[in-house]
Amino acid sequence: MTDPRTEVFREILSTTRSIRRIAPDEVPDDVLDRVLEASTWAPSGGNRQPWRLIVVRDRATKQAISDLYAEEWKKYVDFNIARLPERTPATEQRVRDAMTIGGDLASGLADVPVLAVFLHDPSMLYVTDAGWGRHPVVGGASLYPAVQNLLVAARAEGLGGVLTTIVCAREPDMRAILGFPESWGVHALVPLGWPKGRHGPLRRAPLTEMVMRERWRD
Ligand SMILES: Cc1cc2nc3c(=O)[nH]c(=O)nc-3n(C[C@H](O)[C@H](O)[C@H](O)COP(=O)(O)O)c2cc1C
Repeated sequence: MTDPRTEVFREILSTTRSIRRIAPDEVPDDVLDRVLEASTWAPSGGNRQPWRLIVVRDRATKQAISDLYAEEWKKYVDFNIARLPERTPATEQRVRDAMTIGGDLASGLADVPVLAVFLHDPSMLYVTDAGWGRHPVVGGASLYPAVQNLLVAARAEGLGGVLTTIVCAREPDMRAILGFPESWGVHALVPLGWPKGRHGPLRRAPLTEMVMRERWRD
């Protein structure tokens, strides 16, 4: 028989999806602290923990970040429209409709109770896949587990959020707003709060498509 705690854990993990509609109600400090602590439990290369997190609750600061996010979101929508194989008013509208929920978030970040801004020190990353003529990704592996821990721990408390990276394109502006040093970068912004809708379920490719046994198979 499966341990009931395993079932609960699987239920939490399988319903931790992006929450972009977030109520303005405050998140109590003790709840937030538990979530933040879980974030710090994440692994990192050499256990260097090359990241820090700024918790933003001040409305003016959230508004400044929100403005950047909205500008970048608009560019992202335009980019997706420009990539359409067949661009008509109808296909363009479909892209806009599909991206509405992201747009809602983009225009409402100041109303979200907590913005968690994740920062990293690139000099502390040991990147083992550099030099292959493509984007190295291993550095990020020391950073994003902490973001996912935060999201899963938030889900366990009934909170919701979403890993966003749009504002990483505006690092100098984020630095001006938050005052972090030149040597540090932004790798995620997580809006966090009580969901307006429900958690889960996830839409994901099945195990058989994602996992191969013993060696690569086409
Ligand atoms: C690296 C990364 C960057 C993302 N950036 C954004 C973002 O900037 N804005 C956003 O609304 N969602 C962002 N997402 C959320 C994804 O769109 C979302 O996780 C994905 O569509 C799956 O949906 P689900 O989490 O609801 O299951 C990002 C997710 C990842 C992993």
